[in-house]
Amino acid sequence: MNLRNLSLTLLTASAVLLVAFNRPANKKSMTTSIKDSVIYGKLPADSSFEKTIKGKQTHLFVLKNKNGMEAAITNYGGRLVSLLVPDRAGKMVDVAVGCSSIEGYIKAGSSYYGATIGRYGNRIAKGHFNLDGKDYSLFINNRPNSLHGGKEGFDRKVWDAKKIDGQTLELTYVSNDMEEGYPGTLSVKVVYKLTNNNAVRISYEATTDKTTVVNLTNHSYFNLNGEGNGTILNHTVQLDAGNYTPVDATLIPTGKIEPVKGTPFDFTMSTAIGAHINDTSKQIRNGKGYDHNFVLNKHSFTNPVATVKGDKTGIVMKVYTEEPGLQFYSGNFMGGVNTMKYGEKDARRTAFAMETQHFPDSPNQPQFPSTTLKPGETYKTQTIYKFEK
Ligand code: GLA
Repeated sequence: MNLRNLSLTLLTASAVLLVAFNRPANKKSMTTSIKDSVIYGKLPADSSFEKTIKGKQTHLFVLKNKNGMEAAITNYGGRLVSLLVPDRAGKMVDVAVGCSSIEGYIKAGSSYYGATIGRYGNRIAKGHFNLDGKDYSLFINNRPNSLHGGKEGFDRKVWDAKKIDGQTLELTYVSNDMEEGYPGTLSVKVVYKLTNNNAVRISYEATTDKTTVVNLTNHSYFNLNGEGNGTILNHTVQLDAGNYTPVDATLIPTGKIEPVKGTPFDFTMSTAIGAHINDTSKQIRNGKGYDHNFVLNKHSFTNPVATVKGDKTGIVMKVYTEEPGLQFYSGNFMGGVNTMKYGEKDARRTAFAMETQHFPDSPNQPQFPSTTLKPGETYKTQTIYKFEK
């Protein structure tokens, strides 16, 4: 992109952001850093989302649909930074919890705010797996396991970005052979589309030149009452999942698939997140709340696998996927140490994630659906987060 195009793009982005970040009905206004950079026109040079990392440039891209919904995405980690959704009164609410700068994301690294996760979403036991008779070792970043791609997963990479149109952003990244210990050069494409039926559709594609394992997901944190509006404990959740994969104390699946019936994991009927979250049963204790993979009944695009409702706004989020699993994470490790876009701390359980995925630790659990990708094959998956009121 030449300098003129770049400044035009940034000007447009700043104009959109001026509208976007002035409007949401979140508790507080944006932190001064983004307000300064966006509202007072400091873009591009001083912008909080402009940074050069290992020679690659980060930006903030804004997508807008016909109904006034807006999604802001940065190519640093392919992250959803902000998502403006109308509530039942028609007011715009920012339901995606995020940081106000690239620095903020770097600091909050192990929370994976809004990030594209790879090469392997969730945990691989003891950072070890065997593929085609060869042993592979990964970085242990979540003792004693490897989590979300290792030390520097896809969430910390600067992706190449191409805005296809006002509603579509294409991100690409090439992960080298043995990057983070994974075999094969993996070429990845992630496309964010903000559709006119008020959905964020994330499409993933990947190919490899050597047999490898792949499990891509998105780690958006949502608060359907709006970022900065307290905990998510009164949100209701319904999951199309009759079973889940219990975990050990290090959050690695035991290998069993167990029914949710009669346990705190039964979300087959709409239930408040907080209803059983402090249960004293072993599984809830292992997860410090909900941090478990649900085995989806149908996993198709015709029925939502998850339906979540914000109690204060009435905003409903429906999740669609063809993946076999869904990691429902209730923000148990949020520590109140990071300051988010609207100036609120990321206090415990003030957001939740619904990560569509293959099951954690699949490379070590042959009874789980396979995550192996071979040369000549194309990994393809989609997640749809659809919003209604
Ligand atoms: C995933 C994991 C959680 C936690 C979060 C990030 O959802 O399953 O245990 O690590 O990521 O904090």
